[in-house]
Amino acid sequence: MRDEWTGYLLEGYGSAEFRPGSRVLDVGCGRGEELARLERSQVAVGMDVSHESVAHCRSRGLKVLRGKAEAIPLRTGSMDGLFCKVVIPYTDEARALCEIGRVLKTGGTGHLCYHGVGYYLRYLLLDRSWKRRFYGLRSILNTWFYAITNRRLPWFWGDTIYQSRRRLARHYGRSGLELFKETQAKSFLGFPVFIYHSIRRVRPDADSLELVEAAS
Ligand SMILES: C[S@@+](CC[C@H](N)C(=O)[O-])C[C@H]1O[C@@H](n2cnc3c(N)ncnc32)[C@H](O)[C@@H]1O
Repeated sequence: MRDEWTGYLLEGYGSAEFRPGSRVLDVGCGRGEELARLERSQVAVGMDVSHESVAHCRSRGLKVLRGKAEAIPLRTGSMDGLFCKVVIPYTDEARALCEIGRVLKTGGTGHLCYHGVGYYLRYLLLDRSWKRRFYGLRSILNTWFYAITNRRLPWFWGDTIYQSRRRLARHYGRSGLELFKETQAKSFLGFPVFIYHSIRRVRPDADSLELVEAAS
């Protein structure tokens, strides 16, 4: 995995950017690799939808909650910082980003990593396995369907979407978030493979999910 994605994946992205002692949430913390790093200098808590990931993190002594990025089980404005690495492609991105805006304090920052279209184009055009080529194709089709209808395709067709800078800018605007840094990584045929965004909560009052629903 590491060789295949060298240059595309930025190791340790954003980890050192929070002030010591900050309250930091890792949304979609998986098996807790980043969370363990964050815990050394932050008051860190993880969250993941997967029972297995949550149990694994707890067995490592990490603080973790089970929940969905679209409905984060934390108070509004309770986090100084947030980390979210390759999770949004599996969520309803508009709702998840709205929730990220809600739990961050005004001035709080987040470091997020998304899949760009280049991620799925690599699968579609380069992979030896037809199964993975098909995965690349259906993820691209599913994203177009989502962008038009705000819904995913049914069953496994709808499992992943890529993010575009244009859609992200729209979600940030609605969620009281501002992009203050994009870290460049290697692209594929000129298309982003991973998109690295650092965002800040700028509006004091969190927009509610109703706003996202009204706009969809
Ligand atoms: C590709 S893994 C990334 C894990 C971790 N962030 C990392 O970088 O190692 C995606 C993670 O997102 C979690 N996930 C998927 N959908 C989610 C959702 N709706 N809410 C919260 N977590 C979700 C999965 O369970 C999985 O642990």
